[in-house]
Amino acid sequence: MSHGVIEGYAKAAPDLVTQFGAIDAEAHLAPVRAFLPDSPARVIDVGAGTGTEAVWLASLGHSVVAVEPVVQFHQAGAIEWREDRLPDLQLIMAGAQRYDLVLALGVIQHLEPQEQYKSIETLNRLTAPGGRLILSLRHGPGHPDRQVFDIDVDAILDCAACAGLTLCSRQAAGSLQEANRAAGVVWTWLVLDR
Ligand SMILES: C[S@@+](CC[C@H](N)C(=O)[O-])C[C@H]1O[C@@H](n2cnc3c(N)ncnc32)[C@H](O)[C@@H]1O
Repeated sequence: MSHGVIEGYAKAAPDLVTQFGAIDAEAHLAPVRAFLPDSPARVIDVGAGTGTEAVWLASLGHSVVAVEPVVQFHQAGAIEWREDRLPDLQLIMAGAQRYDLVLALGVIQHLEPQEQYKSIETLNRLTAPGGRLILSLRHGPGHPDRQVFDIDVDAILDCAACAGLTLCSRQAAGSLQEANRAAGVVWTWLVLDR
């Protein structure tokens, strides 16, 4: 993995705290709103950024762990913060806890293809039997300090199928951030059931 990505986020943290904070979590999660749990659930958000989505999910009554390698982002309350990183999530996977809902939103693009596939296996193992994994996959150019790689969605789906995950939903979406829209960034949202 390119460790420079984490350093790139850490360097830009003061600006990104403001930028991420301006995102409306409910609007961001609109493509998968119908797939979020109705009753209180154990949720983990991997690559949670400043925790905008995690905090919103906690406000709905879920118990939420936010995993984020950039500790400068660990500021929001109402959620439990952990420092760890894909593809292995060594500290998280060393624990016994598994989750009803696992989110990895806008993070897989920072990993090289082999690490993307390894991440899917890790995220599958983090999902409780009967639970759900939601991914948002970013396509398009990234910031020079925060390297991005292409994501082959069909290869991700093959990997998910090999892990035993079932595809419930696949949707394309535009970018909420104006600069990303202008740069041609688009997203694929996947909902996968274990
Ligand atoms: C584009 S931001 C997405 C933040 C949030 N999930 C969202 O959707 O708005 C990517 C986040 O992934 C984190 N990240 C980068 N590499 C990671 C890795 N290998 N494992 C976990 N998180 C990582 C970054 O620090 C950053 O907070």
